[in-house]
Amino acid sequence: MMIAIDGPAASGKGTLARRIAVHFKLAHLDTGSLYRAVARDIRRHGGSLEDAAEAAEMARQLDPDTLSDPSLRDPGVGEAASVVAKFPEVRHALREFQRDFAQQKSGAVLDGRDIGTIVLPDAHVKIFVIADLDVRARRRYNELMVRGEPVTFEGVLAAIKGRDDRDMNRSTSPMKPAADAHLLDTTKLDIEAAFDAAVDLIARKIGQQGCP
Ligand code: CDP
Repeated sequence: MMIAIDGPAASGKGTLARRIAVHFKLAHLDTGSLYRAVARDIRRHGGSLEDAAEAAEMARQLDPDTLSDPSLRDPGVGEAASVVAKFPEVRHALREFQRDFAQQKSGAVLDGRDIGTIVLPDAHVKIFVIADLDVRARRRYNELMVRGEPVTFEGVLAAIKGRDDRDMNRSTSPMKPAADAHLLDTTKLDIEAAFDAAVDLIARKIGQQGCP
């Protein structure tokens, strides 16, 4: 079984994907970590995020063992990731890794921006998670405060808005729901309620399709 979960920053898709993976015993790939890692590696090499050729080279050389590096969640890395994510060469270099990951025997859940549209267009279940901008900014702000990061709510709001704009308006693989995706609005849902709604949806879909 392959499940695609897409959506904008701080919509809750990552937490949802992790919990769905545990519940249905699937492997999980946070595809945002790939783009974040490319941005991290460019910075480590002192390169420019706007250099498409260098970004593509970093994507080709990416070491999957470095994807759980906690610094990938530092403030600013998400924005940097969205800059390199606009390059078709970078997306191309990361696509096969994502598709290979999804072929595991256990089945897999991948979360990102273009999983249901481009990476796994044949996924058995596609969920596009949304939530109002203010609610998403509040969630991300609280997350960063818990980590002790020196951020302001206004700064986090502006960063998420900028990222939404960049992710929706790039010409290659823009963030958008697949035609056959289920929209899940988590504006008024806590994680438990969002999880229950997603499990219901997946269980119904598996029932209908007799999914592997
Ligand atoms: O966790 P959060 O939603 O804040 O971000 P993320 O999922 O880690 O993604 C970071 C950035 O990587 C996004 O803003 C996108 O620009 C890019 N990304 C993408 O283009 N395609 C994906 N499948 C996943 C992430």
